[in-house]
Amino acid sequence: MRKPHFLGLLVISIVSTVLSHFHGGLAMAAPATGTQDGSERWGYTQVRPGAHMFWWYYKSPFRTQNPNKPWPIILWLQGGPGASGVGIGNFEEIGPLDTSLNPRNSTWLRKADLLFVDNPVGTGYSFVENNTLLVNTDDEAARDLTRLLIAIFNRNKTLQKSPLYIVAESYGGKYAVTLGLSALKAIKAGKLKLILGGIVLGDSWISPEDFVASWGPLLKDLSRINNSGLKISNSLVEEIKQHIANGEMMEATKTWSFLERVIIYTSNDVDFYNFLLDTGSIHEPMIATEQFRKFSNKRYSRYLDSLRVSAGAKEGDLHTLMNDVIRKKLGIIPKDVEWTDVSDLVFEYSNVDFMRPRIDEVDILLNAGVNITIYNGQLDLICSTKGTEAWVEKLKWQGLKTFLKMDRSPLYCANDKTTKGFFKSYKNLQFYWILNSGHFVPVDQPCISLDMVGNITQSPVTS
Ligand SMILES: *[C@@H]1O[C@H](CO)[C@@H](O)[C@H](O)[C@H]1NC(C)=O
Ligand SMILES: *[C@@H]1O[C@H](CO)[C@@H](O)[C@H](O)[C@H]1NC(C)=O
Ligand SMILES: *[C@@H]1O[C@H](CO)[C@@H](O)[C@H](O)[C@H]1NC(C)=O
Ligand SMILES: *[C@@H]1O[C@H](CO)[C@@H](O)[C@H](O)[C@H]1NC(C)=O
Ligand SMILES: *[C@@H]1O[C@H](CO)[C@@H](O)[C@H](O)[C@H]1NC(C)=O
Ligand SMILES: *[C@@H]1O[C@H](CO)[C@@H](O)[C@H](O)[C@H]1NC(C)=O
Repeated sequence: MRKPHFLGLLVISIVSTVLSHFHGGLAMAAPATGTQDGSERWGYTQVRPGAHMFWWYYKSPFRTQNPNKPWPIILWLQGGPGASGVGIGNFEEIGPLDTSLNPRNSTWLRKADLLFVDNPVGTGYSFVENNTLLVNTDDEAARDLTRLLIAIFNRNKTLQKSPLYIVAESYGGKYAVTLGLSALKAIKAGKLKLILGGIVLGDSWISPEDFVASWGPLLKDLSRINNSGLKISNSLVEEIKQHIANGEMMEATKTWSFLERVIIYTSNDVDFYNFLLDTGSIHEPMIATEQFRKFSNKRYSRYLDSLRVSAGAKEGDLHTLMNDVIRKKLGIIPKDVEWTDVSDLVFEYSNVDFMRPRIDEVDILLNAGVNITIYNGQLDLICSTKGTEAWVEKLKWQGLKTFLKMDRSPLYCANDKTTKGFFKSYKNLQFYWILNSGHFVPVDQPCISLDMVGNITQSPVTS
């Protein structure tokens, strides 16, 4: 699996502007289109003048029509910022086909309809006619996504009967909670016709401060760094906390990227997406600290491009696939739009909000009665379970005390007797601990992930 997705170890950089070719005429939004049998639909929605968002909807072949057990729809939100859900989430994680275009047995289409989107605009096949239209904040992205939902749901009565579950990975979690609030508001105002089923936060970057604070202690306990590594890490974490407290978000992002480099170096190349692995691509020896700090802030680091073949996932070249076979199939992607797995430009535009926490939004959603599910892979480092548990403990939600005291239940999958995870639930908050999984839970543990998503969405299809 290729892996520069989501909040990668990206370092702020000045990137050449790939999106600057658009001028008025070309950008006429193509109408939605799809396969003859109606099982797939895709299109561009102009979410603001000049800002075009690409979406791809799959109707499940198992879809049922029982008013007492409504068929669910999943909106998948990839991270980054700037990683393509249409490409990565779809072909590498949960869609019906893998990157070799072979059927994926564990596709979530078994349980729900799937809606992929290249979010925010500028990501994947989505594009803007002028870079000034790229989003800077999670809230701006949420507003665009709300307009997309209005365009897709308001004109289809069948879809309106299906509860929508917003399922996020990594940075996508911040969009999921801001979208949840924005969608609720639009629903209340009568502008959006949709049932919000719930919000699902998979290894999500909800509280950057809690994640960065978890890295050093976790790696020290795992013998992956020594005391001096821990000390440097802790001092950078203090800097980050101070920046966040002072509202110096750009500075926080810069120090974050430096901390990542320090962790890579002091751990001798730990993989941020699975702390049992190496990235296998450390190139430059770390130079003197201050010099390194300057260096790392200037450069877009590419070490995440190294491939990792995950269990069951065949390696294909996603870039070629998306710019050739898939582009031809879709038929409406403008010539000038080149698909990339992560847009450097979108990341760069988002870096003011990158370190901003979204715990308050989770609290508001919990108090509004929205079902929130959190799941986390045991071996993830970047959005570690330790960090997730730390931000959950900061919730002001009144059910929290009871939730924290409750026991967890073990989870198994199919006929396998080994423990696959743990689960607990109180009122509208649920938490899944998924064992033997890194950042990409559906890839690392497809069996338990499919069961989990079926349960969360109350899918009529039971396994
Ligand atoms: C495919 O998935 C189904 C249902 O989840 C399971 O019963 C079956 O064993 C799987 N087949 C393979 C080849 O993995
Ligand atoms: C992009 O938008 C800015 C601000 O509205 C404007 O000044 C600029 O001319 C636009 N660029 C193009 C290529 O249209
Ligand atoms: C509405 O969505 C359903 C479910 O995907 C589909 O079967 C139907 O054709 C859609 N209707 C329209 C008018 O697009
Ligand atoms: C929300 O969660 C509660 C408790 O787990 C459950 O009873 C309810 O059906 C869920 N609602 C939806 C829309 O999933
Ligand atoms: C601690 O780790 C760093 C980075 O790997 C190394 O340079 C240093 O020599 C180590 N210090 C001790 C005391 O082992
Ligand atoms: C799903 O629900 C079934 C039935 O309640 C339960 O036995 C199983 O452990 C659940 N699995 C997951 C992964 O939530």
